[in-house]
Order: sequence, then structure tokens, then C-alpha cells
Amino acid sequence: MMREASNQEHLPSRYWSEELAGFDYMLDASPIIIQKLREHCYHITGLRSYEYRRHHSHQAGAFLNKLNALRRLDHKNLFVPESSLLGGFGHDINGVKVNIDTLKFYESLIAMDQGGLLDYLRDPPGSGRSVAVEIGAGWGGFAYQLKKIMPNLTYVVIDLPQTFLFSGTYLKTAFPDARFFIYGDGPLSILKTDLLKYDFVLLPHYQFRNVELAKIDLGINMVSFQEMTTDQVLAYLQRLSELGCPVFYSHNRDRSKHNKELSAVGVLMKRFYKLLEITVLPIPYTSLNFPPPNQRLLLSRTINIPALVRRIPMFFCRRPPERPAKRGSLYEYRHLIGSNPKIVHLP
Ligand SMILES: C[S@@+](CC[C@H](N)C(=O)[O-])C[C@H]1O[C@@H](n2cnc3c(N)ncnc32)[C@H](O)[C@@H]1O
Repeated sequence: MMREASNQEHLPSRYWSEELAGFDYMLDASPIIIQKLREHCYHITGLRSYEYRRHHSHQAGAFLNKLNALRRLDHKNLFVPESSLLGGFGHDINGVKVNIDTLKFYESLIAMDQGGLLDYLRDPPGSGRSVAVEIGAGWGGFAYQLKKIMPNLTYVVIDLPQTFLFSGTYLKTAFPDARFFIYGDGPLSILKTDLLKYDFVLLPHYQFRNVELAKIDLGINMVSFQEMTTDQVLAYLQRLSELGCPVFYSHNRDRSKHNKELSAVGVLMKRFYKLLEITVLPIPYTSLNFPPPNQRLLLSRTINIPALVRRIPMFFCRRPPERPAKRGSLYEYRHLIGSNPKIVHLP
């Protein structure tokens, strides 16, 4: 795969070329490294186990506050903690592990649910199972969570081949009985007919333009389009629309601060989809500065918490909350649901 991917037209963005070079040692990972695979996933999402060891447990309270804030918005029990598999780490909160990735994926599940996507996936048009395609799945953390709450799902991962060292290993370990198709297992053409026989399909980025998938119910991208080039994002959206993808969920900034090769994710999505923005919390997933309960106004569950909290004057909080990127700024994380009204009408 790496040889095929070295073709000039398949090269990753400048940012991702540097990231890949940072973990080339994983090509030669010994069993002891694999046993602690999650420790090495910082190359992908930046989390380090050191920050979650017991000597940092004083920070667990902030995680608990944010988890509770998310739980108040979740009426369907969507929370999936970090697994202990392969060195999984996190603060111990009521007996389960919680880290920033855990909360990021939980927030996405809530956004997707609020936008009607989970109901749509549970009961897709036609019969049988639904198919989700995630572009840039990283170490496979969201695939893990979504598959846990929705076992009857075919999950297609499209990513740079080197990342399969993480996602392929993680998902195969987490779901030992699942049926996998990993690029090279057989001709791509069987995915046109046999896609639904698989639980997970892992394909390198440069094959997405060639593969014919039996169907797609949902496209997903998180914290990833923002790091690509305009041409790459457009090519993915174009191909998804050719494949008849009716709905697309994005959790991205319009562009990462360091990325000079991209216009804006939202603007590009608008070319293909009608957009709906979902607000989950008034802070980005990277921030833990959600005011603890004793510093919040008396808020009932029926009040629109995100809207209200945004208006709480700074002096109600002991620590001023991290200033979120300005509304409408390129650097604000946004949950966007794009739907093609010709194909689907979400509730
Ligand atoms: C910051 S990571 C985010 C991973 C995951 N979505 C998450 O939120 O945990 C960015 C992901 O985008 C992927 N990526 C970067 N360039 C890509 C490209 N041209 N095609 C597909 N995936 C790409 C990276 O390999 C990585 O998996």
C-alpha cells in the first residue's frame, strides 16, 4: 500500500507527510509495543498516557464535569468509555476510563443523534444493515464507539495506509469475531456485491476513487478534513456524492491554523449538501473548562444549556473558560450535518 501511495498524485498534505514520518517506527513494532498500542496513538490524536496517570488525577474533576454536561444532553445512553485493551488509558471516572478522545467521540454521537443520524442508521432505507464510511479514522476510536452502540453496521475506513497499523490492529483486537476486509484480502470489486457481509472494511485513501460500494448511508469525517488540501476534500465529497452518499457528518474546524492548503470545510461541503449546524456544548472538544455545577446558574434540563451558558458572565466561573474561537471564525470546531435533500429527509 505504501508503495502504491507514493505516487505523486496520492501524496498526503504537507502536514500529514510530516506526521507519517513521525511514526514510521511502528512498521517494525514488536509485540510489547503492540500491547501498549494506545500509548503510541498520540501521533494521531495527541493524547499521552502520562497525563492520565494517578499523579494527574486532580484533573479528573474537569473530565467528570464535562462528561456530566454531555450526559445531560444524551437521552439514549450513548456513552462508550475507553476500553482497557492495548494499553487504553484515561482518568478513572466511576470505574471507567475517560480521556479527551472518549469525550470527543461521545460529543459526536450526541451531535449525530440530535441531527437524526443515529435513528437513520438504525433504520436505513431499504432493508438490512447500514453502511458508514469514515474518511480519516485515525486509530479507530470512533469506529469502536459507533460499532459498540450499533453492532449491525458495516464500517468502512478510508485512510492513509500507515494509520491501519493503529486502526486495523485496534479494531481487530476489540472485535475479534468481526468480519474484516482489509485492502488486499481480495479484489475490490467484491465490495460492490458483498459489502454488507463485512463488519469492517479498511481501504487506503487512493483507492476511494476506484471502489464501488454496494451502498453508503452515512459519510463521516472528524478533525481530519481540516488538515487536508482543498483538492483532497473536494475529491472526497465529489466521490461520496457519486456513490450516492445521502448524509455527511463533519466535526472540523473550517481549517486548522497551520494548514495553508485548504479554503474552508464548511464552504466545500455546501457545494454538495444542505448544511445543518448542531451545537452541543459552548466549548470545543479540546477544552475542559466547562463550569462545574456549583458555579453554574440553576439550570433545568429543559433550558437550552449551551445557549444559556454562553451568556453567563465570566465572573460566575472561578477559571475563565477557554475563549472559544469566535462564532463564524475559520478556527471554530463545528458539528455539521450535510444532507442531500434529493435523497433523504432527516427528521
Ligand atoms: C487528527 S487525525 C483524526 C483521527 C480521527 N478522525 C479522530 O478524530 O480521532 C486525522 C486523520 O486524517 C487522516 N488523513 C490525513 N490526510 C488524509 C487523506 N488525504 N485521506 C484520508 N485520510 C487522511 C489521517 O491519517 C488521520 O487518520
